[in-house]
Amino acid sequence: MNRLQDRQGREFPYLRLSVTDLCNFKCQYCLPDGCIESQHKSALTLPEIRRLATAFAHLGTRKIRISGGEPSLRSDFNDLLRTISDIPEIKTLAVTTNGYKMDKRIKSWLDAGMNRLNVSIDSLQPDMFHRITGHDRLDEILRGIDIAFENGLSSIKVNTVLMKGMNDHELDRFLAWIKTQPITVRFIELMETGDTNDFFLKYHVSGATVRSKLIERGWLLDARAADAGPAQEFSHPDYQGKIGLIMPYSKDFCASCNRLRVTSQGDFQLCLFSENGYSLRHLLQDDGQQELLIARIRDLLTLKDDRHFLDQGITGATRNLAMIGG
Ligand code: GTP
Ligand code: 5AD
Ligand code: SF4
Repeated sequence: MNRLQDRQGREFPYLRLSVTDLCNFKCQYCLPDGCIESQHKSALTLPEIRRLATAFAHLGTRKIRISGGEPSLRSDFNDLLRTISDIPEIKTLAVTTNGYKMDKRIKSWLDAGMNRLNVSIDSLQPDMFHRITGHDRLDEILRGIDIAFENGLSSIKVNTVLMKGMNDHELDRFLAWIKTQPITVRFIELMETGDTNDFFLKYHVSGATVRSKLIERGWLLDARAADAGPAQEFSHPDYQGKIGLIMPYSKDFCASCNRLRVTSQGDFQLCLFSENGYSLRHLLQDDGQQELLIARIRDLLTLKDDRHFLDQGITGATRNLAMIGG
Protein backbone atom coordinates (compact mmCIF):
# COMPACT_ATOMS: atom_id res chain seq x y z
CA MET A 1 0.00 0.00 0.00
CA ASN A 2 1.37 3.38 -1.02
CA ARG A 3 -0.80 5.67 1.09
CA LEU A 4 0.80 7.62 3.90
CA GLN A 5 -0.53 6.80 7.34
CA ASP A 6 0.78 7.80 10.74
CA ARG A 7 0.93 5.89 14.02
CA GLN A 8 -2.65 6.94 14.89
CA GLY A 9 -3.96 5.66 11.56
CA ARG A 10 -4.53 9.21 10.22
CA GLU A 11 -4.17 9.44 6.45
CA PHE A 12 -2.75 12.40 4.56
CA PRO A 13 -4.22 12.96 1.12
CA TYR A 14 -3.56 16.70 1.52
CA LEU A 15 -0.28 18.61 1.23
CA ARG A 16 0.09 22.31 1.98
CA LEU A 17 3.00 23.71 0.07
CA SER A 18 4.25 27.18 0.86
CA VAL A 19 5.92 28.62 -2.22
CA THR A 20 7.27 31.81 -0.68
CA ASP A 21 7.44 33.42 2.76
CA LEU A 22 7.17 36.87 1.18
CA CYS A 23 3.99 38.84 1.77
CA ASN A 24 2.94 42.35 0.82
CA PHE A 25 0.23 42.73 3.48
CA LYS A 26 0.79 43.68 7.10
CA CYS A 27 -1.86 41.69 8.92
CA GLN A 28 -1.60 42.64 12.54
CA TYR A 29 -1.66 39.06 13.80
CA CYS A 30 0.93 37.85 11.33
CA LEU A 31 3.37 40.44 9.93
CA PRO A 32 2.43 43.72 11.63
CA ASP A 33 5.60 45.44 10.39
CA GLY A 34 5.41 43.87 6.96
CA CYS A 35 7.80 41.28 5.64
CA ILE A 36 11.20 42.43 6.82
CA GLU A 37 13.26 39.31 6.26
CA SER A 38 12.43 36.91 3.49
CA GLN A 39 13.97 33.89 1.87
CA HIS A 40 11.93 34.50 -1.28
CA LYS A 41 14.97 34.34 -3.55
CA SER A 42 15.88 30.86 -2.42
CA ALA A 43 12.36 29.39 -2.55
CA LEU A 44 11.94 25.99 -4.18
CA THR A 45 12.29 26.10 -7.97
CA LEU A 46 9.75 24.65 -10.38
CA PRO A 47 11.75 21.44 -11.03
CA GLU A 48 12.11 20.96 -7.25
CA ILE A 49 8.37 21.52 -6.79
CA ARG A 50 7.59 19.05 -9.58
CA ARG A 51 9.73 16.34 -7.94
CA LEU A 52 8.27 17.00 -4.52
CA ALA A 53 4.64 16.98 -5.69
CA THR A 54 5.24 13.84 -7.78
CA ALA A 55 6.64 12.00 -4.75
CA PHE A 56 3.69 13.02 -2.56
CA ALA A 57 1.27 12.04 -5.35
CA HIS A 58 2.88 8.60 -5.33
CA LEU A 59 2.22 8.43 -1.57
CA GLY A 60 -1.50 9.16 -1.93
CA THR A 61 -1.63 12.97 -1.99
CA ARG A 62 -4.64 14.05 -4.06
CA LYS A 63 -4.94 17.68 -2.99
CA ILE A 64 -2.21 20.29 -2.90
CA ARG A 65 -2.85 23.69 -1.44
CA ILE A 66 -0.43 26.42 -2.47
CA SER A 67 0.11 28.97 0.27
CA GLY A 68 2.68 31.50 1.44
CA GLY A 69 3.32 34.34 2.37
CA GLU A 70 1.41 35.52 -0.63
CA PRO A 71 2.01 32.82 -3.23
CA SER A 72 1.04 34.97 -6.21
CA LEU A 73 4.05 37.22 -5.56
CA ARG A 74 6.13 34.62 -7.38
CA SER A 75 6.73 35.81 -10.91
CA ASP A 76 6.45 32.19 -12.15
CA PHE A 77 3.18 31.60 -10.31
CA ASN A 78 1.11 30.54 -13.35
CA ASP A 79 3.83 28.11 -14.46
CA LEU A 80 3.99 26.77 -10.92
CA LEU A 81 0.26 26.04 -10.97
CA ARG A 82 0.60 24.37 -14.35
CA THR A 83 3.53 22.25 -13.13
CA ILE A 84 1.34 20.79 -10.38
CA SER A 85 -1.90 20.50 -12.31
CA ASP A 86 -0.04 18.45 -14.93
CA ILE A 87 0.47 15.66 -12.33
CA PRO A 88 -2.47 13.32 -13.02
CA GLU A 89 -3.00 12.12 -9.42
CA ILE A 90 -3.47 15.66 -8.13
CA LYS A 91 -7.20 16.21 -8.46
CA THR A 92 -7.48 19.33 -6.34
CA LEU A 93 -5.14 22.26 -6.80
CA ALA A 94 -6.05 24.90 -4.25
CA VAL A 95 -4.62 28.36 -3.58
CA THR A 96 -4.74 30.44 -0.39
CA THR A 97 -4.30 34.12 -1.18
CA ASN A 98 -4.70 37.54 0.39
CA GLY A 99 -6.53 38.53 -2.80
CA TYR A 100 -3.95 41.07 -3.99
CA LYS A 101 -4.66 41.96 -7.65
CA MET A 102 -6.90 38.93 -7.80
CA ASP A 103 -9.40 40.76 -9.97
CA LYS A 104 -6.76 40.96 -12.73
CA ARG A 105 -5.09 37.59 -12.19
CA ILE A 106 -7.73 35.08 -11.23
CA LYS A 107 -8.55 34.06 -14.78
CA SER A 108 -4.94 33.09 -15.50
CA TRP A 109 -4.84 30.99 -12.29
CA LEU A 110 -7.95 29.12 -13.37
CA ASP A 111 -6.51 28.63 -16.86
CA ALA A 112 -3.36 27.15 -15.26
CA GLY A 113 -5.39 24.50 -13.43
CA MET A 114 -6.29 25.97 -10.02
CA ASN A 115 -9.69 24.59 -9.03
CA ARG A 116 -10.15 25.74 -5.40
CA LEU A 117 -9.64 29.13 -3.82
CA ASN A 118 -9.41 30.42 -0.24
CA VAL A 119 -9.19 34.17 0.24
CA SER A 120 -8.49 36.06 3.48
CA ILE A 121 -11.02 38.76 4.33
CA ASP A 122 -10.84 39.77 7.97
CA SER A 123 -13.51 42.45 7.76
CA LEU A 124 -16.25 43.53 5.36
CA GLN A 125 -15.88 47.12 6.52
CA PRO A 126 -13.31 48.92 4.34
CA ASP A 127 -11.87 50.93 7.27
CA MET A 128 -11.45 47.92 9.52
CA PHE A 129 -10.05 45.86 6.63
CA HIS A 130 -7.47 48.61 6.09
CA ARG A 131 -6.64 48.77 9.78
CA ILE A 132 -6.11 45.01 10.04
CA THR A 133 -4.17 44.40 6.81
CA GLY A 134 -2.52 47.77 6.15
CA HIS A 135 -4.19 47.88 2.72
CA ASP A 136 -7.27 49.59 1.39
CA ARG A 137 -8.08 46.82 -1.08
CA LEU A 138 -11.34 45.30 0.07
CA ASP A 139 -13.23 46.35 -3.09
CA GLU A 140 -10.61 44.88 -5.39
CA ILE A 141 -10.76 41.56 -3.50
CA LEU A 142 -14.56 41.41 -3.57
CA ARG A 143 -14.41 42.10 -7.31
CA GLY A 144 -11.89 39.27 -7.67
CA ILE A 145 -14.36 36.91 -6.00
CA ASP A 146 -17.12 37.93 -8.44
CA ILE A 147 -14.77 37.34 -11.37
CA ALA A 148 -13.80 33.91 -10.01
CA PHE A 149 -17.48 32.90 -9.97
CA GLU A 150 -18.03 34.33 -13.46
CA ASN A 151 -15.14 32.19 -14.68
CA GLY A 152 -16.49 28.93 -13.38
CA LEU A 153 -15.48 28.39 -9.73
CA SER A 154 -18.48 26.82 -8.01
CA SER A 155 -17.58 27.83 -4.44
CA ILE A 156 -14.99 29.86 -2.55
CA LYS A 157 -13.78 29.84 1.05
CA VAL A 158 -13.06 33.05 2.90
CA ASN A 159 -10.82 33.10 5.99
CA THR A 160 -11.61 35.54 8.77
CA VAL A 161 -9.36 35.59 11.83
CA LEU A 162 -11.53 36.48 14.83
CA MET A 163 -10.26 39.42 16.87
CA LYS A 164 -11.97 40.81 19.94
CA GLY A 165 -13.33 44.32 19.40
CA MET A 166 -12.15 44.42 15.79
CA ASN A 167 -14.35 42.07 13.77
CA ASP A 168 -16.12 39.84 16.29
CA HIS A 169 -19.34 41.86 15.90
CA GLU A 170 -19.44 41.37 12.12
CA LEU A 171 -21.16 37.97 12.02
CA ASP A 172 -24.47 39.36 10.71
CA ARG A 173 -22.70 41.35 8.00
CA PHE A 174 -20.92 38.19 6.83
CA LEU A 175 -24.19 36.24 6.99
CA ALA A 176 -25.99 38.80 4.80
CA TRP A 177 -23.11 38.65 2.31
CA ILE A 178 -23.31 34.85 1.88
CA LYS A 179 -27.11 34.61 1.79
CA THR A 180 -27.14 34.19 -1.99
CA GLN A 181 -23.54 33.23 -2.71
CA PRO A 182 -21.80 29.84 -2.43
CA ILE A 183 -19.13 31.16 -0.08
CA THR A 184 -17.95 29.41 3.10
CA VAL A 185 -16.73 31.97 5.60
CA ARG A 186 -14.40 30.30 8.10
CA PHE A 187 -13.86 32.09 11.35
CA ILE A 188 -10.41 31.15 12.57
CA GLU A 189 -9.45 31.52 16.21
CA LEU A 190 -6.40 33.68 16.55
CA MET A 191 -3.42 31.40 17.15
CA GLU A 192 -0.46 32.30 19.30
CA THR A 193 2.84 32.12 17.45
CA GLY A 194 6.34 32.59 18.83
CA ASP A 195 6.30 36.41 18.92
CA THR A 196 2.63 37.38 19.07
CA ASN A 197 1.93 36.74 22.76
CA ASP A 198 0.78 40.28 23.59
CA PHE A 199 -1.45 40.55 20.55
CA PHE A 200 -2.87 37.13 21.29
CA LEU A 201 -3.70 37.96 24.91
CA LYS A 202 -5.42 41.17 23.90
CA TYR A 203 -7.44 39.98 20.90
CA HIS A 204 -8.03 36.23 21.21
CA VAL A 205 -11.69 35.33 21.35
CA SER A 206 -13.04 31.81 21.35
CA GLY A 207 -14.91 30.56 18.29
CA ALA A 208 -17.50 29.22 20.76
CA THR A 209 -19.07 32.71 20.89
CA VAL A 210 -19.69 32.55 17.13
CA ARG A 211 -21.03 29.02 17.48
CA SER A 212 -23.67 30.09 20.05
CA LYS A 213 -24.75 33.02 17.87
CA LEU A 214 -25.12 30.71 14.87
CA ILE A 215 -27.20 28.24 16.84
CA GLU A 216 -29.42 31.10 18.12
CA ARG A 217 -29.97 32.07 14.46
CA GLY A 218 -31.01 28.55 13.44
CA TRP A 219 -27.75 27.35 11.88
CA LEU A 220 -26.98 23.63 12.16
CA LEU A 221 -23.70 21.77 12.35
CA ASP A 222 -23.20 19.67 9.20
CA ALA A 223 -22.21 16.03 9.44
CA ARG A 224 -18.45 16.14 9.00
CA ALA A 225 -17.41 16.07 5.38
CA ALA A 226 -14.58 13.59 4.85
CA ASP A 227 -12.24 16.37 3.69
CA ALA A 228 -13.32 19.10 6.14
CA GLY A 229 -10.01 18.80 8.02
CA PRO A 230 -9.99 20.94 11.13
CA ALA A 231 -13.07 23.07 10.32
CA GLN A 232 -16.56 22.51 11.77
CA GLU A 233 -19.13 23.58 9.17
CA PHE A 234 -22.58 25.05 9.74
CA SER A 235 -25.40 25.60 7.27
CA HIS A 236 -28.89 27.11 7.16
CA PRO A 237 -31.72 26.32 4.71
CA ASP A 238 -32.22 30.00 3.80
CA TYR A 239 -28.57 30.60 2.99
CA GLN A 240 -26.53 29.48 0.02
CA GLY A 241 -23.25 30.02 1.85
CA LYS A 242 -21.87 28.20 4.90
CA ILE A 243 -19.96 29.12 8.02
CA GLY A 244 -16.90 27.20 9.20
CA LEU A 245 -15.21 27.41 12.56
CA ILE A 246 -11.53 26.60 13.00
CA MET A 247 -10.88 26.29 16.71
CA PRO A 248 -7.39 24.94 17.30
CA TYR A 249 -7.77 25.41 21.07
CA SER A 250 -10.72 23.06 21.30
CA LYS A 251 -10.44 19.47 22.46
CA ASP A 252 -9.70 16.81 19.84
CA PHE A 253 -8.93 19.38 17.14
CA CYS A 254 -5.99 17.32 15.93
CA ALA A 255 -7.86 14.02 15.64
CA SER A 256 -9.11 14.93 12.17
CA CYS A 257 -5.76 16.25 10.94
CA ASN A 258 -5.39 15.21 7.29
CA ARG A 259 -2.59 17.49 6.13
CA LEU A 260 1.16 17.74 5.93
CA ARG A 261 3.24 20.78 5.11
CA VAL A 262 6.35 21.69 3.17
CA THR A 263 7.85 25.16 3.53
CA SER A 264 9.11 27.32 0.69
CA GLN A 265 12.66 26.16 1.48
CA GLY A 266 11.72 22.49 1.22
CA ASP A 267 11.40 21.69 4.93
CA PHE A 268 8.89 18.95 5.71
CA GLN A 269 6.74 20.17 8.60
CA LEU A 270 4.72 17.50 10.39
CA CYS A 271 2.46 19.95 12.22
CA LEU A 272 1.66 23.65 11.93
CA PHE A 273 3.19 24.10 15.35
CA SER A 274 6.14 21.74 15.06
CA GLU A 275 9.34 23.02 16.55
CA ASN A 276 11.33 22.15 13.48
CA GLY A 277 11.03 20.80 9.99
CA TYR A 278 13.19 18.26 8.15
CA SER A 279 14.84 19.36 4.96
CA LEU A 280 13.94 17.40 1.84
CA ARG A 281 15.72 19.75 -0.51
CA HIS A 282 18.83 17.63 -1.05
CA LEU A 283 16.49 14.91 -2.38
CA LEU A 284 14.83 17.24 -4.89
CA GLN A 285 17.83 17.82 -7.12
CA ASP A 286 17.41 15.06 -9.68
CA ASP A 287 14.59 12.88 -11.02
CA GLY A 288 16.71 9.83 -10.13
CA GLN A 289 16.25 10.56 -6.39
CA GLN A 290 12.49 9.86 -6.28
CA GLU A 291 12.75 6.54 -4.47
CA LEU A 292 15.01 7.96 -1.79
CA LEU A 293 12.70 10.94 -1.39
CA ILE A 294 9.62 8.73 -1.00
CA ALA A 295 11.37 6.55 1.59
CA ARG A 296 12.50 9.63 3.51
CA ILE A 297 8.97 11.09 3.63
CA ARG A 298 7.62 7.76 4.92
CA ASP A 299 10.31 7.56 7.62
CA LEU A 300 9.74 11.11 8.80
CA LEU A 301 6.00 10.62 9.11
CA THR A 302 6.60 8.12 11.91
CA LEU A 303 7.74 11.12 13.98
CA LYS A 304 4.40 12.97 13.76
CA ASP A 305 2.95 13.75 17.18
CA ASP A 306 -0.66 12.94 18.07
CA ARG A 307 -1.52 16.57 18.71
CA HIS A 308 -0.17 20.05 19.12
CA PHE A 309 0.71 21.46 22.55
CA LEU A 310 -0.74 24.96 22.27
CA ASP A 311 -2.80 24.46 25.40
CA GLN A 312 0.45 23.97 27.32
CA GLY A 313 1.80 27.28 26.09
CA ILE A 314 4.06 25.76 23.45
CA THR A 315 3.62 27.97 20.43
CA GLY A 316 6.21 26.46 18.13
CA ALA A 317 9.37 27.96 16.74
CA THR A 318 7.57 29.90 14.05
CA ARG A 319 7.47 33.68 14.37
CA ASN A 320 4.41 33.89 12.15
CA LEU A 321 2.35 31.60 9.96
CA ALA A 322 3.76 33.23 6.81
CA MET A 323 6.99 31.32 7.42
CA ILE A 324 5.37 27.92 7.06
CA GLY A 325 2.32 28.70 5.01
CA GLY A 326 -0.43 28.59 7.67
P1 GTP B 1 -9.16 23.72 3.13
O1 GTP B 1 -8.01 23.19 2.34
O2 GTP B 1 -10.17 24.34 2.25
O3 GTP B 1 -9.68 22.74 4.14
O4 GTP B 1 -8.65 24.94 3.93
P2 GTP B 1 -7.63 25.13 5.10
O5 GTP B 1 -8.36 25.67 6.23
O6 GTP B 1 -6.81 23.96 5.36
O7 GTP B 1 -6.69 26.16 4.36
P3 GTP B 1 -6.41 27.68 4.53
O8 GTP B 1 -5.13 27.94 3.83
O9 GTP B 1 -7.56 28.48 4.10
O10 GTP B 1 -6.16 27.76 6.06
C1 GTP B 1 -6.78 28.63 6.89
C2 GTP B 1 -6.14 28.59 8.21
O11 GTP B 1 -6.68 27.52 8.95
C3 GTP B 1 -4.67 28.26 8.29
O12 GTP B 1 -3.81 29.20 7.92
C4 GTP B 1 -4.57 28.05 9.74
O13 GTP B 1 -4.68 29.29 10.34
C5 GTP B 1 -5.79 27.20 9.94
N1 GTP B 1 -5.39 25.84 9.77
C6 GTP B 1 -5.40 25.10 8.63
N2 GTP B 1 -4.88 23.88 8.87
C7 GTP B 1 -4.58 23.85 10.18
C8 GTP B 1 -4.02 22.88 11.03
O14 GTP B 1 -3.69 21.77 10.62
N3 GTP B 1 -3.82 23.22 12.32
C9 GTP B 1 -4.16 24.43 12.79
N4 GTP B 1 -3.96 24.69 14.07
N5 GTP B 1 -4.71 25.38 12.03
C10 GTP B 1 -4.90 25.10 10.74
N1 5AD C 1 -3.91 32.97 13.84
C1 5AD C 1 -4.94 32.56 13.06
N2 5AD C 1 -4.93 32.63 11.72
C2 5AD C 1 -3.83 33.10 11.13
N3 5AD C 1 -3.54 33.29 9.84
C3 5AD C 1 -2.28 33.79 9.78
N4 5AD C 1 -1.76 33.95 11.01
C4 5AD C 1 -2.72 33.53 11.90
C5 5AD C 1 -2.79 33.46 13.30
N5 5AD C 1 -1.78 33.84 14.10
C6 5AD C 1 -4.46 33.01 8.75
C7 5AD C 1 -4.60 34.09 7.72
C8 5AD C 1 -5.03 33.37 6.49
C9 5AD C 1 -4.64 31.96 6.74
C10 5AD C 1 -3.79 31.39 5.65
O1 5AD C 1 -3.98 31.96 7.97
O2 5AD C 1 -5.56 35.02 8.03
O3 5AD C 1 -6.40 33.44 6.28
FE1 SF4 D 1 -2.50 18.61 12.65
FE2 SF4 D 1 -0.69 19.91 13.98
FE3 SF4 D 1 -2.73 21.13 12.92
FE4 SF4 D 1 -2.99 19.56 15.01
S1 SF4 D 1 -1.94 21.49 14.91
S2 SF4 D 1 -4.35 19.69 13.29
S3 SF4 D 1 -1.52 17.94 14.53
S4 SF4 D 1 -1.12 20.14 11.82
